[in-house]
Amino acid sequence: MPPSPPQHRILFSEPIIAGRIEQLARVIGGDLPSGFAPVVIGLLTGSFVFVADLVRALARGGVQPQVDFLGVGHYGEATQSSGMVTVYKNLRVDVRGRPVLLVDDIADSGLSLHAARAHVLAQHPLWLRTCVLLNKPARRTAEVATDYVGFEVPDVWLIGYGLDAGGQGRALPYIAILESDQSTT
Ligand code: IMP
Ligand code: MG
Repeated sequence: MPPSPPQHRILFSEPIIAGRIEQLARVIGGDLPSGFAPVVIGLLTGSFVFVADLVRALARGGVQPQVDFLGVGHYGEATQSSGMVTVYKNLRVDVRGRPVLLVDDIADSGLSLHAARAHVLAQHPLWLRTCVLLNKPARRTAEVATDYVGFEVPDVWLIGYGLDAGGQGRALPYIAILESDQSTT
């Protein structure tokens, strides 16, 4: 038997997420500098579901971005911010002189987004903004701009829609609060 997802309680349903992503895509589509080929960069791994839905919502509004993924990780304890970040999967797309939207599932300590943003900035994009589906400001240790936010969330561990707890729960179609005590990635 494959492992079943850990016990959870739904926080944001599929239609609520879908509706919010349509709104975000409209705003982002209006803000992107026109006349340039935009790039959406997803942070691995948790953003993959959000990126898939966000780029298709952007496409419905006439924006067809190129897509790439960047892997940044913290050294040390996964749920604590050690302050040390490493790039384990680099970009393949050349972002120089192009509008870039950096996308993650959730901003928690902010370290991943902060490091990813610095990494992309060093490659001289024309324009760079960040977009997170979820913002958990209670645990922020790195100051980083979250330019587009889907939902503000409290300091709880969330699973589903790409987010996991110990590798489980990413395929759930909604976002849920983990009820058992398994808050590790
Ligand atoms: P940060 O660098 O501390 O902001 O961590 C962001 C990363 O931690 C996200 O990209 C997620 O992969 C993971 N993360 C933070 N909070 C949660 C959560 O509640 N559930 C699942 N993953 C989370
Ligand atoms: Mg992540």
